[in-house]
Amino acid sequence: MKKLLPLIFFSFSLSSAAPLGETLFNGNCITCHTISVPNSAPSTKELQARYKKTYESKEAFVSAMATWIIKPNAKTALMPEAISKYGLMPELGYDKQTLEEIASYLYDVRLSQ
Ligand code: HEC
Repeated sequence: MKKLLPLIFFSFSLSSAAPLGETLFNGNCITCHTISVPNSAPSTKELQARYKKTYESKEAFVSAMATWIIKPNAKTALMPEAISKYGLMPELGYDKQTLEEIASYLYDVRLSQ
């Protein structure tokens, strides 16, 4: 039994590492950013499409998105029309690493709904 423990721990960390960005997004962003039908903020689909149009590489996409979310700013927003419509997004107080994890998920995810 003792010998099994490291194995269990190893597979646990593997399986929990993969969907971290998704878990964080679902816990912290999806209440405002619904997947496809906008409600009180642009939909996740809109965010992804708009950022991909400006930042083609994943690195640039992730860095720009995380930097903006740390301190939402009307002057640097890619979607100023959303600010007129819904008001500026509130500051959430997450650290950059967490936001990069979320942005990385948003770059990769295929949104179908
Ligand atoms: C309380 C509601 C709310 C929450 C929670 C929220 N957002 Fe937003 N977000 C908004 C609104 C409203 C806008 C549109 C106005 C704006 O751009 O400031 C927006 C805009 C954005 C934009 C577009 C910025 C641009 O360049 O124009 C991104 C990207 C974004 N949100 C990502 C996120 C992510 C990722 C999370 C989770 C960590 C999150 N938001 C959580 C309300 C929210």
